[in-house]
Amino acid sequence: MSLPTSPSSDPHGDGDDSLADGVAHRARIRSFVVRAGRMGTGQIKALAELGPRFVLPFEQRPLDTAQVFGRQAPVVLEIGFGMGGATAQIAQTLPDHDFIGCEVHEPGVGALLKLIGEQNIPNIRIFQHDAVEVLEHMIPEGSLAGVHIFFPDPWHKKRHNKRRLIQPPFVARLVRHLAPGGYLHCATDWQPYAEQMLEVLGADPDLVNTAADGAYADKPAYRPLTKFENRGLKLGHGVWDLVFRRK
Ligand SMILES: C[S@@+](CC[C@H](N)C(=O)[O-])C[C@H]1O[C@@H](n2cnc3c(N)ncnc32)[C@H](O)[C@@H]1O
Repeated sequence: MSLPTSPSSDPHGDGDDSLADGVAHRARIRSFVVRAGRMGTGQIKALAELGPRFVLPFEQRPLDTAQVFGRQAPVVLEIGFGMGGATAQIAQTLPDHDFIGCEVHEPGVGALLKLIGEQNIPNIRIFQHDAVEVLEHMIPEGSLAGVHIFFPDPWHKKRHNKRRLIQPPFVARLVRHLAPGGYLHCATDWQPYAEQMLEVLGADPDLVNTAADGAYADKPAYRPLTKFENRGLKLGHGVWDLVFRRK
């Protein structure tokens, strides 16, 4: 199993790394910080027993999804599944689709594996790795039926806004990996980020808003309430869904 980026590689948490050769490099700004999290015994057991089958190793070569899932089916990539409750539900709602979930938080990986085991879910595989690298190195261009990004870290502080996933260059890359007609579904409970999403997705020349131009989408029926969404709702936040399609 691949190890997530060590938190010590970015001690200031602002994406600026210095290399040993003394030359300061601006490393890739990451959309996450790996936090130590306590693993429950069920999660540890699931990781040990089901990890070898359902967690895929990060490699710098294209993933053969037909071989991995043992069938030819539309593939949906999810970035940042958290504890995986929504992922497990969606995979069961859409059994004719295969789901690749990326999450760097190990307890979340354990939690989703536990659900996969308890509910006998065959159509999910996991990368415990930065989704940006998984996309770049392992997902063939034009191959994805959909991408789910639910309640991505909002990085509220202005100086951290650069860590947000939904920015023009990354969206352009996501779009290249979608099949024509493939969809990008984002949801957030942070209004300024929702506005940024609408602006960035709306400006991408290869995307079409499935709602009207400049409009948020109704929540698609397949998306259940997520853990972070629930937390946001309790804080009185609104929720905004955006569903765009590749032309
Ligand atoms: C705010 S949580 C939302 C989790 C879940 N989608 C939900 O709604 O409950 C965002 C998650 O995205 C993960 N994440 C952020 N950037 C990521 C990346 N580049 N690759 C993989 N996971 C990432 C974080 O570890 C975190 O668990």
